Amino acid sequence: MMTIPTPSRAENVDLSTLTTMATPGVARLVITAPDSDSLQGLLRDLAREHEPFILLGGGSNTIFTRREVQPAIIRLGEGFDFIESIGEPRGGRLRTGAATNLTTVLQFALRQGLMGLEWAVGIPGTVGGAVVGNAGARGEAMGDSVERVLGLTRAGEPVCLERGDLHFEYRDSNLRDLVVTEIELRLEPGEPDAIRARMAEFRAARRGQPYGDHSSGCVFRNPSGDFAGRLIDELGLKGFAVGEARVSPAHANFLINDGDATPEDVVALIEQVRQRVRESRGIELRTEVILVDPDTVEAAS
Ligand code: EPU
Repeated sequence: MMTIPTPSRAENVDLSTLTTMATPGVARLVITAPDSDSLQGLLRDLAREHEPFILLGGGSNTIFTRREVQPAIIRLGEGFDFIESIGEPRGGRLRTGAATNLTTVLQFALRQGLMGLEWAVGIPGTVGGAVVGNAGARGEAMGDSVERVLGLTRAGEPVCLERGDLHFEYRDSNLRDLVVTEIELRLEPGEPDAIRARMAEFRAARRGQPYGDHSSGCVFRNPSGDFAGRLIDELGLKGFAVGEARVSPAHANFLINDGDATPEDVVALIEQVRQRVRESRGIELRTEVILVDPDTVEAAS
């Protein structure tokens, strides 16, 4: 008889280790599901018990807005960290687990002579998170290469979405309410030198971004016809701080944690920047990062 591995549980986890913004706090319970079957069992149990939970990917685009996280945080474990070619040799199809690093996927594609993910160079996080948030750069994005998505509803029911069922837009998709577990990608054949050259172009375009600071990347979506970074910079807000949360002096759409920024500092800084842009330019900036307020998280229904 096959046994289903049990999810591992960790209590009172240091919240700063779970996101790249690294704000402090305590997560009451972090559960890591080792594979799809155990994840399904876990989600069904949580739904039956009306237990709220937070699904966390790589933590590179998520900010917790409180220090205490009571709902369980669910993470995908080693069974979701894989990448392989499928179909015809050099046919361009890859299958990958949602917890695989985006950089690992890009490097695998490069080794296989497959083009289309060069925009991802230097972007942290998992491929699952990149698909759900349609990560991208300079007009190219994850959704362009996604052929099929497997996942579970938050209540643990399996879902398979084909290309025609998938909707991607600027930094968004119709996958927000799903637990994405596996992705099939379709890429184009390309010469490794040409792929490397495109990677270098994307790397060069990111040269003005802060490197090595604790941040969640760009905080705001670019408003139609303009750039959030340009607007914030124009208002002279580079370096502006609330507590230890600061507008990056390098790129104004990056908010950085100077060391001990609390969730309250980060939330207040986001609000103040938003208010200044609203008052002076009449533009309402929308966040691109996911702000998670643990107190309002709901159970699956
Ligand atoms: N700008 C300023 N001051 C600043 C920052 C930018 O004037 O402090 C100006 C730049 O000179 C440029 C324009 O604003 O004219 C756009 O800046 P940039 O080329 O840096 O691009 P972006 O729109 O700010 C987008 C993505 C980034 C991605 C880069 C790659 C969004 C919200 N941001 O930034 O994605 O890395 O393009 O070129 O779409 C992310 O998703 O987390 C992210 C950082």
